[in-house]
Amino acid sequence: MILVVGATGVVGGMIARSLLEQRQDVRILVRSGSNYQPLVDAGAEPVVGDLKDSASLAPACRGSDVLITTASAGSRGGADTPQTVDLEGNRHLIDAAREAGAQQFIFVSTIAADEASPVPLLRAKAQTEAYLRASGLPHTILAATTFIDLLLPLVVGGPARAGRPVTLVGEGRRRHSFVAARDVAAFAVATVGHPEAVNRRLVIGGPEAFSLRDVVATYERVLGHPIPVRTVPPGELLPDLPPVPGLAEVISRMLAALETFDSPIDMDETARTFGVRLTPLEEVVRREAGSEPADAAAAPA
Ligand SMILES: NC(=O)c1ccc[n+]([C@@H]2O[C@H](COP(=O)([O-])OP(=O)(O)OC[C@H]3O[C@@H](n4cnc5c(N)ncnc54)[C@H](OP(=O)(O)O)[C@@H]3O)[C@@H](O)[C@H]2O)c1
Repeated sequence: MILVVGATGVVGGMIARSLLEQRQDVRILVRSGSNYQPLVDAGAEPVVGDLKDSASLAPACRGSDVLITTASAGSRGGADTPQTVDLEGNRHLIDAAREAGAQQFIFVSTIAADEASPVPLLRAKAQTEAYLRASGLPHTILAATTFIDLLLPLVVGGPARAGRPVTLVGEGRRRHSFVAARDVAAFAVATVGHPEAVNRRLVIGGPEAFSLRDVVATYERVLGHPIPVRTVPPGELLPDLPPVPGLAEVISRMLAALETFDSPIDMDETARTFGVRLTPLEEVVRREAGSEPADAAAAPA
């Protein structure tokens, strides 16, 4: 039995669906307000629980050989915070998995996890990694780079398709190995029971490093027209984002941070070891721009 925690989120949903397609026994930890029915219809067994409530985790963990968690307070809010979910909640889950005698605990973390970070989420991720390593549980940490999926439509695709200029923070020429969320999910699935994944921290990036200027150039090719680019200095907000509370701050801060370093990663060996085909930028852009069927999918090779 494989327990997926975070299955109502983007990556966790992809993981659960992929495992169900492989005809694995899949259990999902769900909260009553979340939309988990499609996964139940696809064959997952729901167990109600909340990472903030340690007592609720034992029934979900009982009989689960493998746990995969992507859960995070990142985009939730209210009582779900980096402290209550990403730090304390993950500790509760690790403790419950150990009690239940789990054979593998797969934790989706981030390459930016850092116990000294001023960002609570990044501190919590690093502290969870350390807690997991010290737990004695066989574990796999997937330290993912920034997902490209959210940035593409918000920053480039949306304005470009609407005929407006794209606005970048700084010059947008720093190169990063952004990763597609589906590729992170593919690694989570591929590392289940894989001997090369035991007690490893695997950095997960995309197949190529590229800048946001490269993203604009790719959209120009795919959409077939030039896209004007404007820039704002780091510290200023992007002007053209959907009016979701806090979104402009989060995305502008993320783009400003990405302007301070380059992060090219060589993924060849990791991708070969786990048999995962990484999705190239052009394929992600074509899918986002609607010129490729949504499920002309990359999956484990
Ligand atoms: N975005 C990036 O660039 C990036 C980069 C590196 C790593 N990551 C990491 O990748 C992971 C997956 O991201 P994602 O975008 O798929 O996340 P997401 O869509 O925001 O999903 C979050 C999931 O966590 C669950 N959750 C939150 N609080 C919970 C609680 N108290 N108890 C139980 N479940 C709870 C949510 O359940 P409900 O539906 O019930 O709220 C949801 O299923 C995250 O851990 C994130 O930190 C992201």
